[in-house]
Amino acid sequence: MRYDIITLFPEIINSYCMQSITKRGIEKGVISVNTYNPRDFSKDKHKKVDDTPYGGGEGMVLACQPIFDCYNSIEKIEDSQNYEFIMLSPQGEKFSQKLAKELSNKKQIVFLCGHYEGFDERIRLGLKPREISIGDYVLTGGELACLVLVDSISRNIKDYLGKDESAHNDSFSEGLEGLLEYPHYTKPREYMGLKVPEVLLSGNHKEIEEFRRQESIKRTKARRPDLLN
Ligand code: ADE
Repeated sequence: MRYDIITLFPEIINSYCMQSITKRGIEKGVISVNTYNPRDFSKDKHKKVDDTPYGGGEGMVLACQPIFDCYNSIEKIEDSQNYEFIMLSPQGEKFSQKLAKELSNKKQIVFLCGHYEGFDERIRLGLKPREISIGDYVLTGGELACLVLVDSISRNIKDYLGKDESAHNDSFSEGLEGLLEYPHYTKPREYMGLKVPEVLLSGNHKEIEEFRRQESIKRTKARRPDLLN
Protein backbone atom coordinates (compact mmCIF):
# COMPACT_ATOMS: atom_id res chain seq x y z
CA MET A 1 0.00 0.00 0.00
CA ARG A 2 1.24 3.41 -0.91
CA TYR A 3 -0.05 6.34 1.17
CA ASP A 4 0.45 9.87 -0.19
CA ILE A 5 -0.49 12.52 2.34
CA ILE A 6 -1.09 16.19 1.54
CA THR A 7 -0.53 18.18 4.71
CA LEU A 8 0.71 21.54 5.91
CA PHE A 9 2.34 19.70 8.82
CA PRO A 10 4.34 16.80 7.35
CA GLU A 11 6.38 16.49 10.56
CA ILE A 12 3.28 15.29 12.44
CA ILE A 13 2.81 12.44 9.95
CA ASN A 14 6.49 11.58 9.60
CA SER A 15 7.26 11.57 13.30
CA TYR A 16 4.34 9.23 14.00
CA CYS A 17 5.16 6.91 11.12
CA MET A 18 8.78 6.56 12.20
CA GLN A 19 7.74 4.75 15.39
CA SER A 20 6.63 1.30 16.39
CA ILE A 21 4.66 -0.94 14.03
CA THR A 22 4.24 1.72 11.33
CA LYS A 23 8.01 2.07 11.11
CA ARG A 24 8.38 -1.69 10.85
CA GLY A 25 5.68 -1.83 8.16
CA ILE A 26 7.63 0.71 6.11
CA GLU A 27 10.92 -1.12 6.65
CA LYS A 28 9.31 -4.40 5.57
CA GLY A 29 8.04 -2.66 2.43
CA VAL A 30 4.39 -3.51 3.21
CA ILE A 31 3.42 0.18 3.24
CA SER A 32 5.07 3.40 2.11
CA VAL A 33 4.22 6.88 3.36
CA ASN A 34 4.99 10.04 1.38
CA THR A 35 4.10 13.56 2.47
CA TYR A 36 3.54 16.66 0.33
CA ASN A 37 3.24 20.21 1.62
CA PRO A 38 0.89 22.48 -0.39
CA ARG A 39 3.03 25.41 0.75
CA ASP A 40 5.79 24.13 -1.54
CA PHE A 41 3.36 24.55 -4.46
CA SER A 42 2.05 28.02 -3.59
CA LYS A 43 2.53 30.60 -6.32
CA ASP A 44 2.16 33.41 -3.79
CA LYS A 45 5.39 35.26 -3.08
CA HIS A 46 4.95 34.67 0.65
CA LYS A 47 4.02 30.99 0.08
CA LYS A 48 0.53 31.66 1.41
CA VAL A 49 -1.92 28.75 1.16
CA ASP A 50 -5.04 30.34 2.64
CA ASP A 51 -7.13 33.47 2.37
CA THR A 52 -10.09 35.24 3.95
CA PRO A 53 -13.54 33.90 3.06
CA TYR A 54 -15.68 35.66 0.44
CA GLY A 55 -18.83 36.95 2.09
CA GLY A 56 -16.95 37.60 5.33
CA GLY A 57 -16.75 35.58 8.49
CA GLU A 58 -14.05 34.34 10.78
CA GLY A 59 -10.99 32.30 9.99
CA MET A 60 -9.03 31.49 6.88
CA VAL A 61 -9.91 29.16 4.03
CA LEU A 62 -7.46 26.89 2.19
CA ALA A 63 -7.20 28.19 -1.37
CA CYS A 64 -7.51 26.13 -4.56
CA GLN A 65 -4.20 26.71 -6.34
CA PRO A 66 -1.70 25.18 -3.86
CA ILE A 67 -3.98 22.19 -3.21
CA PHE A 68 -4.78 21.47 -6.88
CA ASP A 69 -1.12 21.77 -7.91
CA CYS A 70 0.04 19.65 -4.99
CA TYR A 71 -2.56 16.95 -5.73
CA ASN A 72 -1.73 16.94 -9.44
CA SER A 73 2.00 16.54 -8.73
CA ILE A 74 1.44 13.16 -7.07
CA GLU A 75 2.05 10.17 -9.28
CA LYS A 76 -1.10 8.00 -9.40
CA ILE A 77 -1.36 4.32 -10.24
CA GLU A 78 -3.10 3.56 -13.56
CA ASP A 79 -5.59 1.15 -12.04
CA SER A 80 -8.41 3.38 -10.72
CA GLN A 81 -10.15 0.42 -9.00
CA ASN A 82 -7.24 0.23 -6.59
CA TYR A 83 -6.94 3.94 -6.02
CA GLU A 84 -8.72 6.14 -3.49
CA PHE A 85 -8.57 9.86 -2.79
CA ILE A 86 -9.75 10.76 0.71
CA MET A 87 -10.34 14.13 2.33
CA LEU A 88 -10.46 14.14 6.12
CA SER A 89 -13.44 16.17 7.21
CA PRO A 90 -15.92 16.19 10.10
CA GLN A 91 -18.65 16.31 7.42
CA GLY A 92 -17.61 13.02 5.79
CA GLU A 93 -19.00 9.48 6.06
CA LYS A 94 -18.21 7.93 9.43
CA PHE A 95 -15.08 5.76 9.57
CA SER A 96 -15.42 2.17 10.82
CA GLN A 97 -13.57 -1.13 11.01
CA LYS A 98 -15.56 -2.27 7.97
CA LEU A 99 -14.30 0.70 5.97
CA ALA A 100 -10.73 0.15 7.23
CA LYS A 101 -10.90 -3.41 5.93
CA GLU A 102 -12.38 -2.35 2.60
CA LEU A 103 -9.72 0.35 2.08
CA SER A 104 -6.92 -2.08 2.97
CA ASN A 105 -7.49 -3.74 -0.43
CA LYS A 106 -6.44 -0.60 -2.32
CA LYS A 107 -2.93 -0.11 -3.67
CA GLN A 108 -2.71 3.66 -3.29
CA ILE A 109 -4.56 6.13 -1.08
CA VAL A 110 -4.00 9.88 -1.32
CA PHE A 111 -5.12 11.80 1.77
CA LEU A 112 -5.89 15.49 1.99
CA CYS A 113 -5.65 16.96 5.50
CA GLY A 114 -7.42 20.25 6.16
CA HIS A 115 -6.62 23.08 8.52
CA TYR A 116 -7.98 26.52 9.33
CA GLU A 117 -11.72 27.00 8.80
CA GLY A 118 -11.85 24.64 5.89
CA PHE A 119 -11.33 24.25 2.17
CA ASP A 120 -12.47 26.38 -0.71
CA GLU A 121 -15.55 24.43 -1.87
CA ARG A 122 -14.07 24.17 -5.39
CA ILE A 123 -11.44 21.76 -4.03
CA ARG A 124 -14.29 19.33 -3.29
CA LEU A 125 -16.07 20.08 -6.54
CA GLY A 126 -12.95 19.83 -8.69
CA LEU A 127 -11.00 16.98 -7.12
CA LYS A 128 -14.03 14.95 -5.92
CA PRO A 129 -12.46 13.30 -2.88
CA ARG A 130 -14.26 10.72 -0.76
CA GLU A 131 -14.84 12.58 2.51
CA ILE A 132 -14.30 10.63 5.71
CA SER A 133 -14.84 11.65 9.35
CA ILE A 134 -13.46 9.81 12.36
CA GLY A 135 -16.31 10.93 14.60
CA ASP A 136 -18.74 13.65 15.54
CA TYR A 137 -16.25 16.12 16.97
CA VAL A 138 -14.04 18.74 15.39
CA LEU A 139 -10.26 18.49 15.28
CA THR A 140 -7.96 21.40 14.53
CA GLY A 141 -6.53 19.59 11.54
CA GLY A 142 -6.94 16.44 9.49
CA GLU A 143 -3.54 15.00 10.45
CA LEU A 144 -4.72 13.11 13.52
CA ALA A 145 -7.68 11.72 11.59
CA CYS A 146 -5.40 10.72 8.72
CA LEU A 147 -3.10 8.84 11.10
CA VAL A 148 -6.11 7.05 12.57
CA LEU A 149 -7.00 5.83 9.07
CA VAL A 150 -3.41 4.90 8.14
CA ASP A 151 -3.03 2.89 11.33
CA SER A 152 -6.34 1.04 11.21
CA ILE A 153 -6.22 0.38 7.45
CA SER A 154 -2.64 -0.92 7.66
CA ARG A 155 -3.53 -3.42 10.41
CA ASN A 156 -5.68 -5.21 7.83
CA ILE A 157 -2.93 -5.51 5.20
CA LYS A 158 -1.28 -8.90 4.87
CA ASP A 159 2.16 -9.12 6.56
CA TYR A 160 1.82 -5.69 8.20
CA LEU A 161 1.37 -7.17 11.66
CA GLY A 162 3.59 -9.93 12.95
CA LYS A 163 2.02 -13.36 13.01
CA ASP A 164 1.31 -13.08 16.74
CA GLU A 165 -0.46 -9.76 16.29
CA SER A 166 -3.18 -10.69 13.82
CA ALA A 167 -6.05 -8.22 13.42
CA HIS A 168 -8.44 -11.16 12.91
CA ASN A 169 -9.57 -11.09 16.55
CA ASP A 170 -9.59 -7.31 17.01
CA SER A 171 -12.80 -5.77 18.32
CA PHE A 172 -15.36 -5.28 15.49
CA SER A 173 -13.56 -7.82 13.22
CA GLU A 174 -15.06 -10.87 11.52
CA GLY A 175 -13.02 -13.16 13.77
CA LEU A 176 -15.23 -11.89 16.58
CA GLU A 177 -18.36 -11.56 14.46
CA GLY A 178 -18.29 -7.77 14.90
CA LEU A 179 -18.27 -8.01 18.72
CA LEU A 180 -15.93 -6.30 21.19
CA GLU A 181 -12.80 -8.23 22.02
CA TYR A 182 -12.66 -10.51 25.09
CA PRO A 183 -10.42 -9.63 28.10
CA HIS A 184 -6.77 -10.73 28.21
CA TYR A 185 -4.65 -11.91 31.14
CA THR A 186 -0.95 -12.59 31.63
CA LYS A 187 1.30 -13.68 34.51
CA PRO A 188 1.03 -13.76 37.51
CA ARG A 189 -1.97 -16.00 38.17
CA GLU A 190 -3.03 -13.75 41.03
CA TYR A 191 -2.42 -10.02 41.46
CA MET A 192 -3.70 -8.04 44.45
CA GLY A 193 -6.28 -10.76 45.08
CA LEU A 194 -7.50 -10.69 41.48
CA LYS A 195 -7.32 -14.13 39.88
CA VAL A 196 -6.99 -15.21 36.26
CA PRO A 197 -10.16 -17.15 35.30
CA GLU A 198 -9.52 -20.88 35.82
CA VAL A 199 -10.57 -21.87 32.33
CA LEU A 200 -7.65 -19.92 30.82
CA LEU A 201 -5.22 -22.08 32.82
CA SER A 202 -6.93 -25.32 31.80
CA GLY A 203 -5.21 -25.84 28.44
CA ASN A 204 -8.60 -26.86 27.00
CA HIS A 205 -8.69 -24.88 23.76
CA LYS A 206 -12.32 -25.56 23.02
CA GLU A 207 -13.44 -24.34 26.45
CA ILE A 208 -11.14 -21.33 26.25
CA GLU A 209 -12.59 -20.38 22.88
CA GLU A 210 -16.13 -20.69 24.22
CA PHE A 211 -15.26 -18.68 27.35
CA ARG A 212 -13.81 -15.88 25.22
CA ARG A 213 -16.80 -15.84 22.93
CA GLN A 214 -19.16 -15.57 25.92
CA GLU A 215 -17.03 -12.76 27.40
CA SER A 216 -17.15 -10.93 24.07
CA ILE A 217 -20.94 -11.20 23.98
CA LYS A 218 -21.28 -10.13 27.64
CA ARG A 219 -19.00 -7.14 27.10
CA THR A 220 -20.72 -6.07 23.91
CA LYS A 221 -24.18 -6.33 25.56
CA ALA A 222 -23.01 -4.19 28.47
CA ARG A 223 -21.01 -1.57 26.58
CA ARG A 224 -22.21 -1.47 22.99
CA PRO A 225 -25.65 -3.11 22.66
CA ASP A 226 -25.99 -1.29 19.32
CA LEU A 227 -23.41 -3.71 17.84
CA LEU A 228 -25.47 -6.84 18.54
CA ASN A 229 -27.18 -8.06 15.34
N1 ADE B 1 -10.97 17.25 10.58
C1 ADE B 1 -11.48 17.93 11.62
N2 ADE B 1 -12.30 17.17 12.34
C2 ADE B 1 -12.31 15.94 11.76
C3 ADE B 1 -12.97 14.71 12.03
N3 ADE B 1 -13.81 14.57 13.06
N4 ADE B 1 -12.74 13.68 11.21
C4 ADE B 1 -11.92 13.80 10.16
N5 ADE B 1 -11.27 14.93 9.85
C5 ADE B 1 -11.46 15.99 10.63
